[in-house]
Amino acid sequence: MSFFQWLGRIGVTSHPGGWAATEKLLTNLKPKKGELAIELGCGHGRTLSHVAEKFGTKVVGIDIVFPLALQACQRLIKRKAEGYAIVADICNLPFRDETFQVAWAESVFVFLPKPEAFAEVGRVLKRNGRFGIIELTWRDMPFPEYCEQTRKFMNVPRYEVLTLDQWSEAISRNGFEVRIAEKLPSHSLPSPLHQWLSDLRDLTRLGLGLALQVSFRKWFEGARDIVNLFRYTVPAIFVAVKVK
Ligand SMILES: C[S@@+](CC[C@H](N)C(=O)[O-])C[C@H]1O[C@@H](n2cnc3c(N)ncnc32)[C@H](O)[C@@H]1O
Repeated sequence: MSFFQWLGRIGVTSHPGGWAATEKLLTNLKPKKGELAIELGCGHGRTLSHVAEKFGTKVVGIDIVFPLALQACQRLIKRKAEGYAIVADICNLPFRDETFQVAWAESVFVFLPKPEAFAEVGRVLKRNGRFGIIELTWRDMPFPEYCEQTRKFMNVPRYEVLTLDQWSEAISRNGFEVRIAEKLPSHSLPSPLHQWLSDLRDLTRLGLGLALQVSFRKWFEGARDIVNLFRYTVPAIFVAVKVK
């Protein structure tokens, strides 16, 4: 079973930098009332419903895991927010060219083949559309062993952390101009108490949920290796505009 199937079973998702990183991304991305936006790899839909509620943006979430897309959809319905979520693969989006004004993702491209995935985002975004991501980057020097440890633990085909420049280059190869590429100082940033508690609850549920799905030995190895996440990586945000 892969990491994404575990997430589907546990019913919780998260990303490096937590809510503070989300707020920073959205402050720079500036989704607006009436715009059509897509979240790529929306997971359980926390950010998706927040964008719909706070900014009045029409949102579409996609995720490759059915229970997560369903949960994101239910969250939107519960909050009476305008939008929906479906199951889809970022590398093969079921939307026409130039459909959306805004697109974003939080810790998803680290798992994807960069050229195909960024090209697909470029295809579905309108000209002058804005695109933002939160992804892991190296704190100082690259430590490729961390990627391989994590890929093995998560049982996923790909897990590639890039440098700030490599991320910017991968994005800008697809008609995007990168306007912001910024490392955040750490994984844990100050955020309002209720959001901080919400991050803590999600991370605790994730850790405990994983403990119930994998053998103790594998869980322990994962817990040991996670030190490398904090030692070698930090989250970064990128905001780009589609210029071609
Ligand atoms: C680390 S989680 C982040 C989820 C969400 N962005 C959040 O922060 O809570 C990565 C998400 O990407 C989804 N995902 C991974 N590969 C995908 C793909 N090829 N197409 C669509 N979603 C994908 C996973 O199912 C998972 O929900």
